Amino acid sequence: MCGIIGFVGEKEAAPILIDCLKRLEYRGYDSAGMVCIDNNSLIIRKDVGKIEEVDKKVNFSELKGNTGMAHSRWSTHGKTTKENAHPHSDCKDEISVVHNGIIENYSELKEELVKKGHKFSSETDTEVIAHLIEDNYEGCMRGALTKALKKIEGSYALGVISSKKPDKLFAARNESPLVIGLGNNENFISSDVPAILNHTKKVIYLDNKEVAVLTKDNVEIFDLDNNKKDKKIEEIEWNVEQAEKQGYKHYMLKEIFEQPQVITETINGRLKNGDILIKDEIDLSEDEIKKIKRIIIVACGTSWHAALVGEFMLEELAKIPVEVEYASEFRYRDPIIDKDTMVIAISQSGETADTLAALREAKKKGAKIISIVNVKGSSIDRESDSTIYSKAGPEIGVASTKAFTSQLVVLYLITIYFGKIKGLLPKEQIVNRIRDLRKLPLQMQSVLDDKEYIKLHAKKFYKKTNALYLGRGINFPIALEGALKLKEISYIHAEGYPAAEMKHGPIALIDKEMPVIVIATKDNRTYKKVLSNIEEVHSRGGKVIAIETKGDEEVKKIADHNLHIPENSYILTPILAVIPLQLLAYYIADLRNCNVDKPRNLAKAVVVE
Ligand code: AGP
Repeated sequence: MCGIIGFVGEKEAAPILIDCLKRLEYRGYDSAGMVCIDNNSLIIRKDVGKIEEVDKKVNFSELKGNTGMAHSRWSTHGKTTKENAHPHSDCKDEISVVHNGIIENYSELKEELVKKGHKFSSETDTEVIAHLIEDNYEGCMRGALTKALKKIEGSYALGVISSKKPDKLFAARNESPLVIGLGNNENFISSDVPAILNHTKKVIYLDNKEVAVLTKDNVEIFDLDNNKKDKKIEEIEWNVEQAEKQGYKHYMLKEIFEQPQVITETINGRLKNGDILIKDEIDLSEDEIKKIKRIIIVACGTSWHAALVGEFMLEELAKIPVEVEYASEFRYRDPIIDKDTMVIAISQSGETADTLAALREAKKKGAKIISIVNVKGSSIDRESDSTIYSKAGPEIGVASTKAFTSQLVVLYLITIYFGKIKGLLPKEQIVNRIRDLRKLPLQMQSVLDDKEYIKLHAKKFYKKTNALYLGRGINFPIALEGALKLKEISYIHAEGYPAAEMKHGPIALIDKEMPVIVIATKDNRTYKKVLSNIEEVHSRGGKVIAIETKGDEEVKKIADHNLHIPENSYILTPILAVIPLQLLAYYIADLRNCNVDKPRNLAKAVVVE
């Protein structure tokens, strides 16, 4: 997905746009561009590369003018070239557009416009919008934009400026996220909130099929039938520091080290006197919760791994059958859903297109929808019956870390609450489980304090080309998550497997070059089995890195390398066991000089299918 930013005010736009765009770069980073209105002319600078590289080539700060827009691209339509970088313009260079999303009917529209004599200079779907506005322009820019939008099919977050209206910034949204930032004698449009936090905390969330007209001291919003809309101004809780690196080398490392604080904030206000207080966050009566016959959890990527841990928790303690679905598969299957089915959507960004579509599919079929989302005001948040926020703060690193552990804690809170409602968890057990939860922040900190020891192990393995992660029971999803973290930031091929499944194939991959990371924490379920799985790896010459419970002498004897986590209840182990895997992946990627925060080919939230 791309990042778009727009500004209209009294100050020079370019320096503000550069600063905000850099905060959006994690969204997509294969090319960048900027346009400002200078003396009633559109001045555009754009090129291929990350923002800093492009800025060095084209010098954005030379652009003059108080109205402007900028864009950071994640290519979907058209190769990564200078011509395909945004902004895109009309034939007379009087209208300029930046866009995030996909115009599905762009080729038909382009054909019609070419027949009318329009000249195109890029392969993108976006350029069609500039020519469509030009084609519909009869003196009113908002009118022309609205007419153009009525012909468009697909997703868009749009910024439009024109030399015809130098003091105005236009915006529109359908599916792709877009917020309006309200400042003093200046206003902003942005793909997300963290990018404009150091300029304002007052935002308006545009809804689908809405058009906004911004001047330096006014914002008007209309629907596509030209009805004026009254919109709520929201005050953002996050502060700008949270969106900064605060001295860490990478956002990912900062976010890994924020986890103890994040878990404290995630449980804050939700635990009291040995009880769980999330009743008000779930818009369902106790009777409705008792009637839930089945839960389907839909998600993608790391959030899908959180769902697998949630399945374990809910079936174990709330005794509700759970199915975990890849959102992208779920939405194209004709899932059987009835009124006693609850669907939980999990998403850090709240904008993942597949998860949003799965949620809508479930809603259409009458399911009750609750979501676990980190970004307030996001599409999934606003389209869910209830949202329980994972309070991780802004997560900028593309590889999700703190959002994952806070999702697990939220799933645990929901589980205990449902178990209590259903009369399955006696008071004393709830008190004990809350006690275990409250231990987590300090225990997480003790794992983080081992960072140098974990870095030592990274130095032993960073040149490897493959890795295998093994876990059992509630820790199988953590093996998947460990493998995903290594894959997405170090580009080492890694796979996660249920440890017992190894014998049915992957064991063929094992040799002395294959590091095998095994989650071997103490429990009274599969611990002994995991020990024999470690022996199986050894017998094929594999090197085992074990994640073990502090003080466990048995694993120490059989594993080649030992990373420790403190003991807590079995069901909370994943929240501790994932931390050494996050750090291992981080240090390996850093030793390989990978761009940890902006890994190749990835984007923080995938808002296109
Ligand atoms: C995880 O590190 C990745 N960034 C990716 O797999 C991510 O979890 C997935 O795209 C889902 O994102 P969401 O939680 O924002 O919906």
